[in-house]
Amino acid sequence: MNNIPLKYPFNQFAYGADYNPEQWPEEVWLEDVKLMREAGVNAVSLAIFSWAKLEPRPGEYDFGWLDRIMDLLHTNGVSVLLATATASPPPWFAKLHPESLPVSETGVRMEIGSRQHYSPSSLAYKQAAASLAGKLAERYAKHPAVIMWHINNEYACHIRASYDEESATAFRVWLQRRYGSLEKLNDTWGTAFWSQQYADWEEIQPPRQAPTYPNPCQCLDFKRFNSDALLELCRAEIDAVKKHNPALPVTTNFMGISAPGLDQFAWARNLDVTSWDSYPDPAKDEVAYNASSHDLTRSTGGGKPFILLEQVTSQVNWRNVNMLKQPGVMRTYSWQAVARGADAVMAFQWRASRAGAEKFHGALVPHVGTADSRVWREVCDLGRELRACHEITGSRIVARVGMMFDWSNWWAVELPSKPREISHTTIVTQYHEALFDNNIPVDFVPMEGDLLRYQVLVLPLTYMLSETTAKNIKQFVANGGTLIVTWFSGIVDECDRIWLGGYPALLREVLGIRVEEWQPLPEGVHNEIKFIADGKTSICDFWSEAVDAEGAEVKAVFTKDFFAGRPALTCNRYGKGRAWYLATRLPGEVNRELFGMICREAGVQPLLEAPKGVEVSLRERDSSRYLFIINHTDANHEISLGGHHGADLLDGQQMVAGTVNLKPYDVKVLKLAV
Ligand code: GAL
Repeated sequence: MNNIPLKYPFNQFAYGADYNPEQWPEEVWLEDVKLMREAGVNAVSLAIFSWAKLEPRPGEYDFGWLDRIMDLLHTNGVSVLLATATASPPPWFAKLHPESLPVSETGVRMEIGSRQHYSPSSLAYKQAAASLAGKLAERYAKHPAVIMWHINNEYACHIRASYDEESATAFRVWLQRRYGSLEKLNDTWGTAFWSQQYADWEEIQPPRQAPTYPNPCQCLDFKRFNSDALLELCRAEIDAVKKHNPALPVTTNFMGISAPGLDQFAWARNLDVTSWDSYPDPAKDEVAYNASSHDLTRSTGGGKPFILLEQVTSQVNWRNVNMLKQPGVMRTYSWQAVARGADAVMAFQWRASRAGAEKFHGALVPHVGTADSRVWREVCDLGRELRACHEITGSRIVARVGMMFDWSNWWAVELPSKPREISHTTIVTQYHEALFDNNIPVDFVPMEGDLLRYQVLVLPLTYMLSETTAKNIKQFVANGGTLIVTWFSGIVDECDRIWLGGYPALLREVLGIRVEEWQPLPEGVHNEIKFIADGKTSICDFWSEAVDAEGAEVKAVFTKDFFAGRPALTCNRYGKGRAWYLATRLPGEVNRELFGMICREAGVQPLLEAPKGVEVSLRERDSSRYLFIINHTDANHEISLGGHHGADLLDGQQMVAGTVNLKPYDVKVLKLAV
């Protein structure tokens, strides 16, 4: 069924799943490859949890079974993203190296029996993992089935840090490299407070359980250190495999915008292609939230097509209640990934397990088998649809709106002892949703990113801001860009020290405002804002600020609390551009309207006008443009194509013009006429 072999960069959509043949007798493998052909599966991620099977005893290897399955897959036209098999060390490893087991903040050493039981700073683990990766590469780096390395698996999914002695020593080395002297460290961490001053490097500990809040900069640095320590593990594996075939690309699967462990912008610089694992909760409306992780994965990968490395066909096993995706929803979520820039649609896992911790997790081949199976029918249909659209691979999203995103900022915002508890990504995704609901494409931009390619730049809750970033932002506005800054931004420098003299210090001039103080709002408590232009009001919650306009035009004011009448929304002209400031949190539909209005004024139009729940996205390559319209709702919708017309790739290339009618959970992929 797959005549052209899959290559990277992808010449067709990669479609498939994690494949765990070691869980099954070899007779089942023959049925597996037959079914893969039937479903149009052309790629599998292999050997992710196979360490114990590959190295049953220290230094004793068994590659026979892997040779056999690799050859079988190759003969059947299925390409392999070969894992380095290091995600779960075998029991013998912990016995040999008990010090490699991670230790919790409270001093509890974790045990074997699940997975990811290694400390980010364990040298023994690093050497053993790199050695296994090297052995695999020696044997398979030139195997014709292998198109990519899948390094480890979901670093920092379960273990983001370890507080053991080996980690403490490594942390001190990292700090010495960062600060050079204890004097500098003491000054940066503000150790004059609570008599925390260090007289010797050996006194410094990881932020273990203490009587009350540990030093915030110590905590922040420990998070940075752990992201770096894990990256060193990943780098060791990458170096080991690249030695045997530098041309073979590497990826490791990230976990989207809900995963705080790894600074993905820094990590992505070490990968050939980014990928992530997408598990929206069917019990909630997480369509926009899921889209933000696609955008993040694409953005950390520099805009290149990315890989959806895992999703589930039906239901997972790890929530309290595991609802399944309704009929058609695996399809809409798969097309969402493609619409936002993925060139691969993969799942966990190929065949539902018979035993073990994930036996109730959905798969392409369910426990009931393939006959009369809704899931299997949907799997085969999706395979056919993706095949009909292979020409889309390689095309990209062009976004004119950038949203600043930074892991240090995220970590710092969520450290304790703030004006209120804040989930950073909950807030960021609410502003992302305001753009998503307008069908306006958006990239996430790192602090040091190139701003000049955008017309609009959003700083959502950008608490931490360096002088360099602030300078670039001012330049962006001076050159004609439109800036939107939200509340509690520009408060501290990159070491979590307050910028004094009125918030948001470094941005006061460009925004033409001063924030004097803030009033965080507990759950259920609201303020209200009134728009000057039309007198309309809206409730607001979570956070409010006492703001002075210092040159900015006041667009809305608060109506309650002692700062009633003072600005809630302002707009300042600066150079050739404009800078907006929003001093509170507004409801979703008001955000949608506000962000839509600001973007239009800045010359950025929605791709199409569509109701909430209908997602529109565009991918482009040279003169080819592909428009995706995805109905994530169970209602019918009629959408105007706004003058566009094109061939419907999922419907035999029928020409479509004027309007399209969407059935519940419908998907249209139109190749627009030039
Ligand atoms: C991912 C993981 C897979 C599998 C899956 C279940 O986090 O990479 O191995 O556990 O979740 O949803």
